Amino acid sequence: MIDHGPMDRRQFLQLAASAGAVSLIDRSLAWSSTVEQFSLEITPVTVELAPGVVVQTTGYNGKAPGPILRMREGVPVTVSVVNKTASAESVHWHGLHIGALADGAMEEGSPMIAPGAKVEYRFTPAPSGTRWYHTHTMALTDLNRATYSGQFGFLLVEPRSQPGDYDQEVFLAVHHWEPSFVPAQEQSESCPEITYRYASFNDKLLSTAEPLRVRAGQRVLFHFLNASATEDVWLSLPGHRFTVLALDGNAVPNPAKVEVLSLGVAERIDAIVEMDAPGNWVLGSLDATERDRGLGIRVEYANHQGAAVWNPPQVVDWSYARFSMPQPKKPGSEETPIETLEMLFEKNSDAPGSIDRWTINGRSYPDIEPVYLREGQRYRMRMMNATGCAHPVHLHRHSFELKRVDQVPVSGIFKDTVRLERYNVIEADLLANNPGNSLFHCHQQLHMDYGFMQLLRYG
Ligand code: C2O
Ligand code: CU
Repeated sequence: MIDHGPMDRRQFLQLAASAGAVSLIDRSLAWSSTVEQFSLEITPVTVELAPGVVVQTTGYNGKAPGPILRMREGVPVTVSVVNKTASAESVHWHGLHIGALADGAMEEGSPMIAPGAKVEYRFTPAPSGTRWYHTHTMALTDLNRATYSGQFGFLLVEPRSQPGDYDQEVFLAVHHWEPSFVPAQEQSESCPEITYRYASFNDKLLSTAEPLRVRAGQRVLFHFLNASATEDVWLSLPGHRFTVLALDGNAVPNPAKVEVLSLGVAERIDAIVEMDAPGNWVLGSLDATERDRGLGIRVEYANHQGAAVWNPPQVVDWSYARFSMPQPKKPGSEETPIETLEMLFEKNSDAPGSIDRWTINGRSYPDIEPVYLREGQRYRMRMMNATGCAHPVHLHRHSFELKRVDQVPVSGIFKDTVRLERYNVIEADLLANNPGNSLFHCHQQLHMDYGFMQLLRYG
């Protein structure tokens, strides 16, 4: 549970609002003597994915992805952000349970950063785990910019306790790039998609990325993030298995060994791999098209010569299903009464010739009433996907506990983003414990832009 600090959050938000400050303060910092400082500069950057493959985009501190921010759970931070681009910007701290004003989404009331302006985001990072930060501008206002933006980076909130032991720590963020800046949008089977020319881990294509060098017997801790605007991916390291420690940064109660990681847009997976199959391998996408676009990294054992092997599992055992690991029942997790929030996702193609809208219970953002939550109440979100497309749905400033996925009962898995398969239902429990406006939306950029979004509000 989150410590709300000495001042009541509501009082504090009122205070902060009345101060009209440019500091986007989450909570009083009065009780803490340490404040860690971070700074980000949003600027145009040139990314060289491979020799001759160059993308002009925007990033942080001259890089895309931006720097890995390491914060400590419970230690307040100030992040100064300077916007050196020509459009209004914002930085969203995906997966943190912080106040709405500092959350970086203008729909929640977090101010935008005008071109040339500087803003200080002040908050106390929690909970610990692999989070990330990214721009939260709406793509439709500038489709090229937001969809292809390199404005994202890892944010690691380090726990107070020691992490498990490992020999190497590796951060791999999936991203798709399009150098032409002309979005090739196609309607495939009623699911709008963008055809990207390139896919990468971080900022390098498979052909160019420095191999990951390992020794037999090493334990490598991988942090995976899918920072693609629109595409889910499936990853494998032939010859090896991933021991999944955390989903969306939240520790799973029973770490499971799997061959394939399913990583929906905006999801994160932390996994350990025991390097026990000497050889040269490729850690990459199961999808050949993705590999052709460059998504992958070579993994080379010391003292091994020869070409890298791509030899993925022939039969993918889908029962590895991220959530079907047997989970112990957590005592007391249903102590307060549960109200159900029914959320039906559909696609509305009624108006001929007009662009398809995505709807939640028949309405599209911004023409949609907020959902009102009562603080302290526990809700069961019943998310029903009545469309033929998968949706990586995300809730700001909260995590929810999965209860039922693909008809499989689960517990102990806390997520902030979940890939909801086509024509499927997910049930998840939400404890309303972080007052303020919270956005709920599909993280597939083209779905979010066309209305798949709603505010949750306390009151
Ligand atoms: Cu990762 Cu509303 O965002
Ligand atoms: Cu969607």
